Parts: sequence; C-alpha cells; structure tokens
Amino acid sequence: MARRPLIAANWKMNKTIAEARGFCEQLLPDVEELGPDGAEVVVCPPYLALPLVAQLCEGSDVGVAAQNMYFEDSGAFTGEVSAAMLLDAGADGVVLGHSERRQLFGETDGGLAKKVPAALAAGLLPILCVGESEGERERGETEEVLRRQVEADLAEVADEALGGIVIAYEPIWAIGTGKTATAEQANDASAFIRSLVAARNTEAGDLIRIQYGGSVKPANAAELLGQSDIDGALVGGASLDPEDFAAIVTAA
Ligand code: 13P
Repeated sequence: MARRPLIAANWKMNKTIAEARGFCEQLLPDVEELGPDGAEVVVCPPYLALPLVAQLCEGSDVGVAAQNMYFEDSGAFTGEVSAAMLLDAGADGVVLGHSERRQLFGETDGGLAKKVPAALAAGLLPILCVGESEGERERGETEEVLRRQVEADLAEVADEALGGIVIAYEPIWAIGTGKTATAEQANDASAFIRSLVAARNTEAGDLIRIQYGGSVKPANAAELLGQSDIDGALVGGASLDPEDFAAIVTAA
C-alpha cells in the first residue's frame, strides 16, 4: 500500500505575521520545484498568521493546519477557536493532542475524543499526536501508553473513517531535545500504532498515515522517513527555517 508521506511544519508559538510571509515566500518555490509526486506538505502556523499563510499557499501544493481547536461549534468558550472558524480562515487540517498541550495546558484524552470527530465532521484533516515520556519508555510502558491514547482519543471515530486521519508518533523525550528516537524505535512504535488501527479496521490500518516527530532534521530525515511504517514527519524546531524544512521535504 503506497501512502503519500506528509511532512508538516509545527511552528508552535513562533513567527509574527510578517515572518510567516517571509517563510512562505521562500518555501513555496522550493516545493513547486519538487512537483506533485513528492511528499504532501503542510504548514501549521499560530492562529494569527493562519489566514495569511492560507492565502499565500492557495493554488500551491502546500496545505495549512492549525495547532489546536475546540470541539464545540460556537458559544461562551473564551479564548477558543472552532473547526468552522478554522475552515473559514483557510485551514485544511488541525494538530490535536500535541504533548505540549497535554502537559502544559491540561489537554485530556476525554477532550480529544470529542475534538477528533469534530474535526473530521467539519472536513478538517486531524493530525493526532501521541507519545510516551522518557520515564514511561524506561519503565517499558511505551506500548501501554500508546494503546491508551489511541484507543481513548479515537473512541468516537467510526472504524471506516480511521484511514482518513493522521497520527503523529512523538516521543516526548525526543521533542526539542536534539535526542532523536532511533529509526528502529520510531518504526516499531509506528507499526504498533498501525496495528491498533488495523485491529479496528484492516483497510484503515493500511491507509492511515503515521508520522514521526521529535528532533527531525535534514541530517536524520532520510533514515527515519525510509522506514516501512513511517509516513512522514511532524517537524518543530527545524521547520522554522524554510531551507531546513525544504531539505526535509526533499528527503521524503
Ligand atoms: P522538534 O522537532 O523541535 O523536536 O519538535 C517536534 C514537535 O513537537 C513537532 O510537533
């Protein structure tokens, strides 16, 4: 089963609107040069830069995703943004359950179980992040943690819809640390996540794209992306530089 790799730039809380413009002006010609046979590319800017990035990427091969959203359509939810608002601003997808949101902002599996179907229902591509902490890996609990997150966060998604989402395997100990999971560790975890999805629907297990995230750089991208069960990358730090990010897209 040939799955098109998805390379996503998670800028986190970085870049002003002007900086976002500069990035797109540099990245878009590079992606155009690679043509439609290469990896799918998505940029995930902060909310305020999203409409501009969507406008600049319109008609190109580069998609746009937000970094979070709330599951309700509208109402008294100060500080939150809905799926409909993201669509209106030009988003194609949304990152959900990033470990920084889980650790720093109280994101729960219960909330994610509502956010993933809400994104799908709106026509947004959900990029669901899962991953274990360093302590959990050392205690041999990696598969247990991944199983708990995948089962809980996707509990309300219909089995046959599972193939249409993206899961990013992001071991917390590899995020922003310069410590990358070995290609074997990353592939094993991805294969395990795929098996969890396949247990619910065989075809979805084949279709679902599983990214790796955690200190992906131009120097290690090709090896990670060459693994059988890794279908792309969710890139943090190295995605802030259009040249580094383009090099990762090229490696895919
Ligand atoms: P780094 O690439 O900076 O390690 O971040 C990974 C990440 O969290 C992407 O979502």
